[in-house]
Amino acid sequence: MMIGCPTEIKPQEFRVGMTPNAAREAVAHGHDVCIQAGAGAGAGFEDADYIAAGAKIVDTAEEIFATADMIVKVKEPQAGERKMLRDGQLLFTYLHLAPDPEQTHDLLASGATCIAYETVTDDRGGLPLLAPMSEVAGRLAPQVGAWTLQKANGGRGVLMGGVPGVGPARVLVIGGGVVGTHAAKIAAGMGADVTVLDRSLTRLRYLDDVFGGTFKTSYASAGNTIELAQAADLIIGAVLVPGAAAPKLISRAQLADLKPGAALVDVAIDQGGCFETSKATTHQDPIYDVDGIMHYCVANMPGAVARTSTIALGNATMPFMLALADKGWRQACLDDPHLMNGLNVHAGQLTYYAVGKALGIDVIAPSVAIKG
Ligand SMILES: NC(=O)c1ccc[n+]([C@@H]2O[C@H](COP(=O)([O-])OP(=O)(O)OC[C@H]3O[C@@H](n4cnc5c(N)ncnc54)[C@H](O)[C@@H]3O)[C@@H](O)[C@H]2O)c1
Repeated sequence: MMIGCPTEIKPQEFRVGMTPNAAREAVAHGHDVCIQAGAGAGAGFEDADYIAAGAKIVDTAEEIFATADMIVKVKEPQAGERKMLRDGQLLFTYLHLAPDPEQTHDLLASGATCIAYETVTDDRGGLPLLAPMSEVAGRLAPQVGAWTLQKANGGRGVLMGGVPGVGPARVLVIGGGVVGTHAAKIAAGMGADVTVLDRSLTRLRYLDDVFGGTFKTSYASAGNTIELAQAADLIIGAVLVPGAAAPKLISRAQLADLKPGAALVDVAIDQGGCFETSKATTHQDPIYDVDGIMHYCVANMPGAVARTSTIALGNATMPFMLALADKGWRQACLDDPHLMNGLNVHAGQLTYYAVGKALGIDVIAPSVAIKG
């Protein structure tokens, strides 16, 4: 197969769809790999690294879209890229189609087969191609929270780990899933006094079993949430209700009861945010003040650490990318129902129920589409 990887063109996107290691593996499997010149630069990979891995460097995205059987990317194709997609071409990337009718219609019109990272599943009910980015955002949250707490940034001027004779920062993590667990581990590692709230007792039992000595757990009733929030220096929002906007767990009125200069890091901002006063910010201008409480609400946190994020994503996508290249998408999906769950669009038809429901478009089952 000819596998192509163009430079990401979405603003502020520095990741790249294939690492040199992914290219090396694809070449070792007998495939040709084409990388756009400079595609890896934002993540710290030189063209020479790809050449050493056996890939070919081409100058333009046009050449890649014109020749590749499969396009491997990070972000959803932008309007100009969608125009270049061809009938029968395979696209493997994040798509997030449900809130994006324009992209959905363009992909349907292209005739391409589109497999979305975010809907590929695993045996444990997880989303293996979303998890690495949640791990990154979770581990980054205490780091940016610690920075936000610094006096010059408007914070309380509290050091995460304290010092001998001075207690540590109190950190509350709301939601103990992938983001919350990684956030709690790092905050505890920085020496903070950490409590994780969740509404799932099963999850709380797991966290207590595995991390009992590292951080505390508490049930996320409204009463517990606000009581612990009032005592916290840093609050990390990490909840997810699948398929729904994030619930608002701290209202504007309740900000008055928090410690002055406390920091809120709302990782759930990509689902609308879990604090009433959250609004999406960028890496250029990440924090703002509401009633003396500092908010950090960057919607694409992994972009801040593009190299780590690229390698983490590449580790997760590589086995699927190789299966698609080795077997062709039909056989790869027939052999792996979790990969089949990633199929969103095929030959002008939508194949993912939730997207069809959100956009009012007819859907056919992937098992039917695969025969077409
Ligand atoms: N901003 C970013 O760059 C970025 C990056 C990655 C993930 N995210 C977002 O972070 C959020 C968390 O993702 P995840 O992968 O950890 O999800 P997850 O499903 O692994 O965990 C979510 C947890 O929230 C808990 N929960 C749900 N409602 C709750 C409530 N009312 N109170 C307390 N806990 C509650 C669930 O029981 C679950 O354990 C999502 O919104 C995700 O989209 C954002």
